[in-house]
Amino acid sequence: MDALKRQAAARALEEVESGMRLGLGTGSTAKHFVDLLGEKVRAGLKVVGVPTSEATRAQAEACGVPLTTLDEIDRLDITIDGADEINPALDLIKGGGGALLREKIVASASARMIVIADDSKWVPRLGRFPLPIEVIPFGLAATQREIGEAFAKAGLKAGVAGPMSLRKSADGHVFV
Ligand code: A5P
Repeated sequence: MDALKRQAAARALEEVESGMRLGLGTGSTAKHFVDLLGEKVRAGLKVVGVPTSEATRAQAEACGVPLTTLDEIDRLDITIDGADEINPALDLIKGGGGALLREKIVASASARMIVIADDSKWVPRLGRFPLPIEVIPFGLAATQREIGEAFAKAGLKAGVAGPMSLRKSADGHVFV
């Protein structure tokens, strides 16, 4: 599977041209892309990247990929990122790596997005992977109630695919 992730990353890299501003995704597949991009940069490719997480920032820095922010530039050429699930209509579930908000901002600022994934991500219908929803700490209980109501309105019974739960980090604290 790791070889397939790398192949997908290598294919995406073929779309990258010198001078491009890139959104750099998060996760084990995007990690391959940053790795391969780093090799190209060290061989002379001129690009600049905006990372979608601190993990990707650290990796890109270590690989020598020049970085910027969406405060300094307001537009990107391509974002390359992974996904948690992909259906036949190419709808996605993303955010399993915990970088959902930044991933959406970076993707929205991009003229084009390339999703890289191995075939384990294909599903006939989205929903095998828990749906990540980002919230802020303020008003959490009220937000949780509204999310439940939105699910009910959409005809989704709470608890069918698993209960709504707050994600925890390995140390037991709420994931931030
Ligand atoms: C990060 O928040 C996610 O959207 C990732 O892109 C997604 O979880 C895919 O990660 P992997 O490439 O590790 O499966």
